[in-house]
Amino acid sequence: MIKLDNVSKAFDNQQVLDGLSFEVADGESLVIMGPSGAGKSVILKHIIGLLQADNGLVEVMGHDMLTIGGPQLQKLRRDMGYLFQHSALINWLSVFDNIALPLRETTSLSKSDIDDRVMEVLGLVHMQDAHLKFPAEISGGMQKRVGLARALCTHPKVLLYDEPEAGLDPEMSSEISRMIRRLKEELGVTSVTVTHSVNCALTVGDTLAIFEHGKILLSGPPTEVLNSDHKRVREFLSAPID
Ligand SMILES: Nc1ncnc2c1ncn2[C@@H]1O[C@H](COP(=O)(O)OP(=O)(O)O)[C@@H](O)[C@H]1O
Ligand SMILES: [Mg+2]
Repeated sequence: MIKLDNVSKAFDNQQVLDGLSFEVADGESLVIMGPSGAGKSVILKHIIGLLQADNGLVEVMGHDMLTIGGPQLQKLRRDMGYLFQHSALINWLSVFDNIALPLRETTSLSKSDIDDRVMEVLGLVHMQDAHLKFPAEISGGMQKRVGLARALCTHPKVLLYDEPEAGLDPEMSSEISRMIRRLKEELGVTSVTVTHSVNCALTVGDTLAIFEHGKILLSGPPTEVLNSDHKRVREFLSAPID
């Protein structure tokens, strides 16, 4: 479903990805943990085609992201949902309109089909009652759930979550993690989640990969990786988080 093979990417003189390789199978949930500034968001941006690799292969749903053409990329992006680190809702639009926007812009659905779909995805994240509210009128956790609903509205096959727990209290953070897990189980989506939270990694991940210095240091079932005696992994996990 998603395959990175020996990918490198530099900005100026900074080598951010350096021979990065991993695969995510159909329906699998991969979690990536690593230090701040290591390049985790850069990885997600390569998958969604916002950045292009200097070298190596990035393949998503059978498409080579280096050679994919504009119309195909647009279609592929519709098949992918992206939950941004800071929900990125539009303040002057209601919850309903924030979610309807990508449907209005990228599909030719009728108004009543859009209404139905918006209410359906709001139902998935238990936010139907708040559809007329504005982002400033709801809590951070609710904003995340709306961001999640927006990422889901075009029926994506792949979901990318960039620090879904960021800025949330522990209770909200575990609720979002459980929701991501439930969406995976109910909708069978393939996902990549970047997180700093051990709890999130345990709840969401089928596989956990530790990323540093441009490549994966270690990957495997989350409990195994979190208990590994890999020196750098131990140091990283015991370091204070952001
Ligand atoms: N578009 C860009 N242009 C230049 N440098 C970038 C760009 N995107 C990311 N970087 C740099 O790449 C490094 C990794 O960034 P990022 O992926 O955001 O880290 P994180 O692991 O915290 O998500 C940072 O040093 C950042 O400044
Ligand atoms: Mg980031």
